[in-house]
Order: sequence, then C-alpha cells, then structure tokens
Amino acid sequence: MRHFLDLAPAGPAGLRAILDEAHRRKAARAGWPKGRVDEDAPLAGHVLGMIFEKPSTRTRFSFDMAIRQLGGTSIVSSAGEMQLGRGETIADTARVLSRMVDALMLRTNSHAKLDQLAEFASIPVINGLTDLTHPCQVMADILTFEERSGRPVEGSTWAYVGDGNNMTNSLIEASSLLKFDLRVGVPHGLDPDAGIMATACARGGCIGLYHTAEEAMVGADVVVTDTWVSMGQKDSEAKIAACTPFQVNDALMARANPGALFLHCLPAHRGDEVTDSVMDGPQSAVWDEAENRLHVQKAILLWCLDKIGAGI
Ligand code: CP
Ligand code: NVA
Repeated sequence: MRHFLDLAPAGPAGLRAILDEAHRRKAARAGWPKGRVDEDAPLAGHVLGMIFEKPSTRTRFSFDMAIRQLGGTSIVSSAGEMQLGRGETIADTARVLSRMVDALMLRTNSHAKLDQLAEFASIPVINGLTDLTHPCQVMADILTFEERSGRPVEGSTWAYVGDGNNMTNSLIEASSLLKFDLRVGVPHGLDPDAGIMATACARGGCIGLYHTAEEAMVGADVVVTDTWVSMGQKDSEAKIAACTPFQVNDALMARANPGALFLHCLPAHRGDEVTDSVMDGPQSAVWDEAENRLHVQKAILLWCLDKIGAGI
C-alpha cells in the first residue's frame, strides 16, 4: 500500500518519479483550460475523499482540480460535518470510507490521527498537513525550484527562516532524501522536531541549525519562510517578538545568493514573516509555488495508485 504520509517512505527514487511526472504532465497541458482532463485520463473512474479538520484554500482546491484533471472525481468534507466530529473513531471511519472511495486525503491537527487512518484504511492515505509535517507542500516547493532554476534540486542550498514548524520538518526530511543542503534559522526554543532532525542527519542529511536568520542565508539558492503562528497554535506576543528578527525582507534576501528564489507555502502574513517588497518582488516564486501544488499532487495521486514508479 502506497500511502503518502511523509516523504521518507517514498524514498529518493519515489520522490524523483513524482517530480518527473509532475514536470512532464504540467508541460503537456500548457495553455489548456483548467478543467480539461489530461489526454490519458489515468484516474478515470477513481474517487478521492478529502477530510479537513483545519481550514484550507490551496490544498483543497489543488487536490480537487488534481483528481479532476486525471479523469476522476472527489468528495470533500470537513471533519466537523462528519460523524468523526461526534466521536466515531478514526479506525471505523477508515474502514467505511475504504469501501466507498479509492484514496483519502486528511488534513488534521494530530499526526497520530493520520497514522491511525492509514493503519485502518485499505486504500492509500495522503497527508494534507498535520501539526508535524506538510510533505505535499515541500514537493511543490522543490518542483518550483527545479522549474525556475532549470536544474535538479540535488546539490542546491536552501535556507528556511522563522518558526520551526511542520514546513521546516518536511524540508529537513526532503533535504536528506534528495541531497540538498538546508540551513535552518529559527529563534531559540522554536527548533524543528528533534526526532525528524536526528533521523535526517543519520540518513546523511546536510542540515545546519542556527539561531540567527543571517547565518541561515549563507550560500542560499532558495529562501523559505512560513507563518510564525500555525493553525491551532496560540498567538503570543513573546513568540512574535522572538520571530521578528527572522522576517524575510530585502536586507535579509541580499545575504542569500544573487537571484535566490523566495518561497512561502501561503497564506502569508505580510509585514510579519515577509515584507510586501519580497512577496511581490522579482525573486518571489510564490504564485508558481501555489500552482505547483496542483501539478505535484497529480503525480502523488498517480504514485499512490501505482500508476507511476513501478519497481520502486
Ligand atoms: N499551503 C497550504 O497548504 O495552503 P492551504 O492551508 O490554503 O491549504
Ligand atoms: N505552518 C502552517 C502552514 C500552513 C499551510 C500551518 O500549519 O498553519
């Protein structure tokens, strides 16, 4: 069963197969109306179920368009509208929905719930963001870098600055699997997940952890940030104060490599983690990055349903 709960189980070859498929399929439909189905309609007759425990704009729309462009359809629900919200267990929900749809995507507060859904489902389960990781987003980020730079991600240098969160954790995992250098700059006390960091380093990942934004910028081909307060977290003045020196502004961007790309998974809090000048500036690739959620998720769906990556 090919779940996409995190990046590591797919392995470097699986991730590369997904990226290559996304590049290829995106190019093949350039200029087409968005609702037109891909020539081969590889998921005709398939249904994707999506469950959201937290808000979403990009993940919701991009997965819905992804399955449609592959020839399939979707059912989208918020957890609160389901019996899940009244105490039906994740395990029973998994058993039932496995009889009705071909794959499930879950956005949840708790990574443990995602693991449980996968344990009891007999169909592939995809991580649409948990408190711990956001693997689909990081795949879109990598696709965007490769598209904009014209070179493979392997061997590049990325900087992540801000709160050590689900995005940071998935970037750490990605860097160790796809062999790019990652420099993480976060305030003291807001480090990324220690277990994910240790596993990535044990895998041979080249990851630097710094407590200034400036140190993280050295040699960076890509600069990434994210909100300082993730969904489900309490807004605190102390946290905002600690994160303020990590704002991505023109002065900070000037410390990265010339022409370094700026990425943000969005939604952005302009004036907090990033200034308007960077978001709207020439180095920003955030709109391509958002669009690429669609293209990479098509490839993730194909991988989960065994349509690509045979023999991996
Ligand atoms: N980047 C991202 O996951 O956006 P949404 O929360 O809008 O889905
Ligand atoms: N770290 C953010 C990402 C949003 C897409 C959050 O979890 O809210």
